[in-house]
Amino acid sequence: MKPLLQAEHITKDYQLGEVTVHALKDVSFEIYEKELIVILGPSGSGKSTTLNILGGIETVTSGSVIYGSLKLNKADPQKLTAYRREHIGFIFQFYNLLPGLTALENIALSAELSNHPLDPGKLLEEVGLADRRDHFPNRLSGGEQQRIAIARALCKNPDLLLCDEPTGALDSRTGVQVLKLLEGFCRSYEKTVVLITHNRDIARIADRVFYFKDGRLEKIETNPDPKKPDEIMW
Ligand SMILES: Nc1ncnc2c1ncn2[C@@H]1O[C@H](COP(=O)(O)OP(=O)(O)OP(=O)(O)O)[C@@H](O)[C@H]1O
Ligand SMILES: [Mg+2]
Repeated sequence: MKPLLQAEHITKDYQLGEVTVHALKDVSFEIYEKELIVILGPSGSGKSTTLNILGGIETVTSGSVIYGSLKLNKADPQKLTAYRREHIGFIFQFYNLLPGLTALENIALSAELSNHPLDPGKLLEEVGLADRRDHFPNRLSGGEQQRIAIARALCKNPDLLLCDEPTGALDSRTGVQVLKLLEGFCRSYEKTVVLITHNRDIARIADRVFYFKDGRLEKIETNPDPKKPDEIMW
């Protein structure tokens, strides 16, 4: 099977005055189409840095990241913008909805960035918020805002969905709803999802789990029997 994406010997240094922070140290992996990957690891171990590099919003210090025939580390800014726009969906812990747009408008805006978008109204239904379509973000709860943010990311119909602690600010019941949406997108739309979490139980829904420690990818575990979000207790 051909990987969707390959990271080869990537490093990332941040310069903080006199001090160099080695955020990633010789990290290599492949990600295949339709995979659900969970990234675990202590705070500061390089998880977000890795995700941001995959999404083309950070660059590597050395090594290469290859998506199809595109080498991200060699791509000019225009190509990187096109890569993010056409292929990548991002979901963060905080939702960053545009306050002046309604729930539906926030979702529909991202449809305009894609040449093969999904239907915003249908996604609003799928995230269970059809009755909130004309509400502004400040009238929605945190969990509702996160579901809108997810619908917005899915609406572009990205090939690779990158999620940085998407359930980090949610209670467990709302968190399960969010996980169901992400897992459903992976399994029913046959898309690739990479999800960072601090919660080891969530890792049970993954096909493979990447364990980061101190800037290194310490181990990769394959899960022979990935669970549904409903089946895990947390
Ligand atoms: N913009 C930056 N400037 C300087 N150092 C940075 C920057 N971003 C990250 N770092 C450093 O790089 C290392 C890895 O950070 P990263 O955000 O990838 O960790 P993480 O695994 O996502 O942690 P957390 O679980 O706390 O989100 C840390 O030491 C962090 O302080
Ligand atoms: Mg992080």
